[in-house]
Amino acid sequence: MSESLATVSYIGATILFILSLGGLSNPESSRRGNLYGMIGMTIAVLATIFGPRVTMAGIPWIIGAMVVGGSVGLYAARKVQMTQMPELVALMHSLVGLAACLVGFANYIDPAAAAHLTSAEKAIHEMEIYIGILIGAVTFSGSIIAFGKLSGKIGGKPLLLPARHWMNLLGLLIVIYSGWQFLHSASVNAGMLPLTVMTVIALLFGIHMVMAIGGADMPVVVSMLNSYSGWAAAATGFMLSNDLLIVTGALVGSSGAILSYIMCRAMNRHFISVIAGGFGTGTGGGTPAAANGDAQPAGEVVAVSAVETAELLREARNVIIVPGYGMAVAQAQHTVYEITKHLREKGINVRFGIHPVAGRMPGHMNVLLAEAKVPYDIVFEMDELNADFPNTDVAMVIGANDIVNPAAQDDPNSPIAGMPVLEVWKAKTSIVMKRSMASGYAGVDNPLFYKENNRMLFGDAKKMLDEVFVALKTE
Ligand code: TAP
Repeated sequence: MSESLATVSYIGATILFILSLGGLSNPESSRRGNLYGMIGMTIAVLATIFGPRVTMAGIPWIIGAMVVGGSVGLYAARKVQMTQMPELVALMHSLVGLAACLVGFANYIDPAAAAHLTSAEKAIHEMEIYIGILIGAVTFSGSIIAFGKLSGKIGGKPLLLPARHWMNLLGLLIVIYSGWQFLHSASVNAGMLPLTVMTVIALLFGIHMVMAIGGADMPVVVSMLNSYSGWAAAATGFMLSNDLLIVTGALVGSSGAILSYIMCRAMNRHFISVIAGGFGTGTGGGTPAAANGDAQPAGEVVAVSAVETAELLREARNVIIVPGYGMAVAQAQHTVYEITKHLREKGINVRFGIHPVAGRMPGHMNVLLAEAKVPYDIVFEMDELNADFPNTDVAMVIGANDIVNPAAQDDPNSPIAGMPVLEVWKAKTSIVMKRSMASGYAGVDNPLFYKENNRMLFGDAKKMLDEVFVALKTE
């Protein structure tokens, strides 16, 4: 393939990636967005393999690597449960970071990479390598820890080392000093030491940053690592002088940064405190409350049966359903829709309230409800619906916990203090569907359960909703 054909293919792929992102911004056009992304990536891969910079001898190596990587990816994608998607995404981010590190080191030790460069160009090239490895290493180790936390292999309790901000500052100073040494090193051998020192510090920083994050704030960190992975890819593009990689990386990096900003706003957090680590751990530097999943229940709860729940729903005029992670675990979305349809046919106004971090990934609930064919016009964001709870007869909470926890508003020492929540307790009656009194992802007890107007429907959400549906139909 000639240079110009490769360039045209890259431009085509870039346009498709932009259209893809545009499509993904709305559930109705998201399938189309995915398709654009897949076509764009196919064009990009083919144009790279058969482009002018790959020799014939290199092609079997690339195809071999693609078969191995593709098979692992295909196997993982087919095997992964919907509830495990966030951890799979975190693992993928770690691979982007690892790739940036490996390309960086390979580029540095490859004598051909800088042979044709002037000394100014060489300095820029080395800076690209240094920054690329720096971002790549933070992304790699941070994403591995995020994977561990999201999959429950590492506890959700934040690790708060003493003087952690000073340690971060010291790390930053060493990284700057090593960078100066690296750029002024006389040979590749001499540059290897500062480069390795910086890589180790960046790896430690990635671990430290994510280990210090409290449970409920993980979504912000995951979207931030998503953004980092984009910048790591863009840095790799600079190292390899590959325009498409630069553009694609910048698209991922900037869209991830926008998502992180939206998440921060949704969680009422400051962006800088995420980067510095250690939020979601209780305010004012106080002792982290029950951020380790061992919160002790306090108070009496009123349990109801499926038949009583059906009765409450039948008598209601306005119902708001708040789905959470438990709905995803139970795969209850289809029954939820059957019940919704039934109630709407009886003239009951049923709407859905979606918290920005409900479930385990951005848009998790929207995806499930769309899969069950719930009409988009009855699905509302938290802010659009929160004021309506006082006029609501029944707020039905399905497998949600942290996102409906009043402690976020009432208890300044709570690890989730300040996080906006759906105010279901303001409804005439709230019904919480879950299997036990266990806490949610943040590991905090939920005072909602003990409120006078709250009822608990204990059991697997799918099973209980099936029973509620049967009871509704047999009036
Ligand atoms: P959680 O607070 O995690 O609560 C989910 C509840 O569902 C649990 O208390 C659990 O109680 C119940 N549950 C689990 N399986 C169930 C089943 N089969 N049937 C019925 N109930 C079941 O979820 P949430 O309210 O959606 O809040 C999300 C949390 O995850 C937030 O803390 C958020 O910060 C965090 N997070 C979100 C994301 C994104 S991007 N959305 C990413 C990472 C972390 P039982 O065990 O008693 O049933």
